[in-house]
Amino acid sequence: MSPTPEDSPVHRPLRAVDIIIRKRDGLELSKAEIDYFIQAYTSGEIPDYQASALCMAILLKGMTDQEATDLTLAMANSGEVLDLTPVIGKAVDKHSTGGVGDKTTLVVEPLVAACGLKVAKMSGRGLGFSGGTLDKLESIPGYRVNLTMHEFLDQVSRIGIVLSGQSADLAPADGKLYALRDVTGTVPSIPLIASSIMSKKIAAGAHTIVLDVKTGNGAFMETIEDARKLAELMVAIGRLSGRKVIALLSDMNQPLGCAAGNALEVLEAIETLHNGGPNDFRDHCLEAAGYLLYASGKTGNLSDGKKMAEKALENGSAFEKFRLLVQAQGGDVRVIDDPSLLPKAPVIETINAEQSGYIAGIHARTIGETIITLGGGRAKKSDSIDHSVGVVVHIKVGDRVEKGQPLFTVHAKNAADLSMARERISAGIHWSDQPVEPLPLFYGVVE
Ligand code: URA
Repeated sequence: MSPTPEDSPVHRPLRAVDIIIRKRDGLELSKAEIDYFIQAYTSGEIPDYQASALCMAILLKGMTDQEATDLTLAMANSGEVLDLTPVIGKAVDKHSTGGVGDKTTLVVEPLVAACGLKVAKMSGRGLGFSGGTLDKLESIPGYRVNLTMHEFLDQVSRIGIVLSGQSADLAPADGKLYALRDVTGTVPSIPLIASSIMSKKIAAGAHTIVLDVKTGNGAFMETIEDARKLAELMVAIGRLSGRKVIALLSDMNQPLGCAAGNALEVLEAIETLHNGGPNDFRDHCLEAAGYLLYASGKTGNLSDGKKMAEKALENGSAFEKFRLLVQAQGGDVRVIDDPSLLPKAPVIETINAEQSGYIAGIHARTIGETIITLGGGRAKKSDSIDHSVGVVVHIKVGDRVEKGQPLFTVHAKNAADLSMARERISAGIHWSDQPVEPLPLFYGVVE
């Protein structure tokens, strides 16, 4: 039976249609209304068309911080909520809102695990033009992303790190709602994105959450204003639900690092774990790791957190942790020791500059979309992925480039794909005769 609390604004059994009408008219929903809607939608009592209508009303009318928090907790409580305290103490988690070339998890998680933090992370697959950690890890032959809960907990207590897919038992309401939003034009709603992300983090047992909120043409939040609003809302949800949340606002107007595409990103992550890799990506990882170490209380301030992380890159302990992780999850460690064994595309070609000048823009979203067309991402949920394809970009915004200098390298499965990628990516590179300021890595922090 549906709950009929005394304080319900409508003094009769709760009905989906009344809740939709109240939100359509811009009213604030009560916790009882939100709990009822989410429970009844998860159980199948409320159909998709009514849930779509509510999502559209939320997209158009917004939500207060309290409503977004109630929605987050209702979705988190729609399934199992993990308590990791007996295994790893207060759990710390990180989450990126998604971007192009964002292989941060592959470096940051082993890095902080090497510094003594217990890492029990559930990651996702690619979403639209943005890549996903699970797809990247599956470039490593044998790597298992579908661990049982027992294997997940056992591994983190044995070796201090586990990186797998999200259990279907966690936040099932979000799984259902996300699929619905994807096909009803209701993804880009700040309260819906915030509650979707935060419900999964809370269900996965996180007490302290470091968020990497990306902004730019290769991110879901294209403007800094929207990214800041999303960050502020997630920090507010954290405060109202008793979690500590720190949100970094980071740039996604060009790919992060050089490599975009699954196996290519694993290769770049391995290079970075060997204390190499592109400077922007390394600095981004050290900043995120520094925040995780500081937020978890491993260090007393951010600067010591970054120093500790830097040491773990320099002394090889971060790489060793990654190797251990791959081995524990059934991956072929020969590929980690010799990354030339990673899947390789049959057609590889570097495109050189046809002019000299300054790089004014590299359209990250175009690169992400091109990788999907190359076969490195999914157009439909059921599509399989070619891990070998992708793009390595050799330039950054602000660089001075001379004619003939390499711009980017395409890894494709045939010549037709190569020429498609060459044209699309070239059209996304913008030039200037005048010097151009490099892009910042971060725009700020919301705590
Ligand atoms: N990532 C999520 O998990 N949910 C959203 O709604 C958007 C990005």
